[in-house]
Amino acid sequence: MDAHHVPVLAAQAVALLAPERGGLFVDATVGLGGHAAALLAAAPAARLVGIDRDPEALRVAAGRLAPFGERVRLVAGRFGELDAVLDGAGVGRVDGVLADLGVSSLQLERAERGFSFRREGPLDMRMGGGGPTAAEIVNGYPEADLERILREYGEERDARRIARALVEARAVKPIATTVELREVILRAKGRAAGREGRVDPATRAFQALRIEVNQELAELRRLMEQAVRRLREDGRLVVISYHSLEDRIVKWSLRHLERGEIDPVTGRPLAETQLLETLTRKPLRPSDAEILVNPRARSARLRAARRLG
Ligand SMILES: C[S@@+](CC[C@H](N)C(=O)[O-])C[C@H]1O[C@@H](n2cnc3c(N)ncnc32)[C@H](O)[C@@H]1O
Repeated sequence: MDAHHVPVLAAQAVALLAPERGGLFVDATVGLGGHAAALLAAAPAARLVGIDRDPEALRVAAGRLAPFGERVRLVAGRFGELDAVLDGAGVGRVDGVLADLGVSSLQLERAERGFSFRREGPLDMRMGGGGPTAAEIVNGYPEADLERILREYGEERDARRIARALVEARAVKPIATTVELREVILRAKGRAAGREGRVDPATRAFQALRIEVNQELAELRRLMEQAVRRLREDGRLVVISYHSLEDRIVKWSLRHLERGEIDPVTGRPLAETQLLETLTRKPLRPSDAEILVNPRARSARLRAARRLG
């Protein structure tokens, strides 16, 4: 198997989900089915519902997970609508939820999906499920909105300069491809680009656009809330994130759900609202050996929690 398709932190994710207890697990980002296959192979009594917003990913996952037969069901949908997706599939409480965020290698490798500046393709970046394309955003959003997206979602220092350059470039001709977009970004960053070393100067801007196109942070906030309420007692939640904006949301959501709401009278947490116990005091990171075979693992952070009552 191509190293790009190796699931990240798979052994750790499976161990924390503890599927040997049996029961029903949700892989909210089934993608190419790597984590799902590892979980099902580890625990013959476990069943799995795999969700993805990308129909192409679901086709690949169906092939890879076929050997597990009736133990797997795949459902198209967004994890931000987890309740509706699971209700629609007739699923009640579950024993574990896994989310491995971000894009799949399949999405990155297909030039026509427009995720990668390393391949020329149309500026699309939609993972699936509608919404505006990246082209509609770079060619249509007001300059101030572009600047905000680049700053907030890309943590891009040159947000203002890039937003200006996009507006100037599109006034001449709409920006149509990934390579054209990268060129505008590189020109805007000018000499500053060299300082960032090994990382391509367009990386942050591409990340920002992808997050906006797919509303990734809003989706993640909604997932955290719904996933926890779907868990049975002792059910597990495992989330693997790939950049600090995602990790911050996961960390704060877990902390909030662990502490519970504060009683305004006593100033103490209300016990019945303390829904979780965190299982990872610090996020788990991949080993050097894993990063060597799977560079996509480089920025991964895994956090996990257990439902209390
Ligand atoms: C990193 S990949 C998952 C790879 C998978 N764990 C594996 O081992 O093959 C992330 C997947 O999540 C999907 N995804 C991202 N955001 C989503 C959302 N809001 N709802 C449903 N699927 C989403 C993407 O389409 C992509 O296929």
